[in-house]
Amino acid sequence: KREAQLNSILASVPDAMVVIDAEGIMLSFSHAAQRMFGYEEAEVLGKNVSMLMPSPDREAHDGYIARYLETGVAHIIGSTRRVIGCRKDGTLVPHELAIGEATGGGERVFTGFMRDLTDQEATAARLQDLQ
Ligand code: HEM
Repeated sequence: KREAQLNSILASVPDAMVVIDAEGIMLSFSHAAQRMFGYEEAEVLGKNVSMLMPSPDREAHDGYIARYLETGVAHIIGSTRRVIGCRKDGTLVPHELAIGEATGGGERVFTGFMRDLTDQEATAARLQDLQ
């Protein structure tokens, strides 16, 4: 029942949603995330979320999580940030990232919500050109 509920959330949540454990390993990957990044869920489960971002964040991301777990000082949790993601085909995707934190079965998990900003930024650039 819980699994069916989770699957229906993953299928219908409008923004890309990615759940990771404290090591950054991806535990679930929503339909919108599959559309946004061009990966099937099976291609990313068990892999590090850092594969979804370009350098230098890709190499640094394990350290960001470790720093947070050590210090408790959050830089994105509790707010949002514009970050750049990297699709399977190597193209970049600017998006707004929000991160939530939860403890499930004694394990710490993080949920990322990612809103694609590509269209919004293209429209803003066109408006700028018209002025
Ligand atoms: C921290 C980048 C996706 C979980 C950070 C920080 C950056 C970053 C730059 C450190 C902020 C700082 O110390 O100033 C990115 C990029 C992503 C991405 C470019 C694009 C794919 C995700 C996702 C999750 C996640 C999908 C969770 C599912 C975390 C956590 C932290 C963190 C837990 C530490 C807590 C915090 O600083 O608030 N990330 N991230 N990240 N990220 Fe990511």
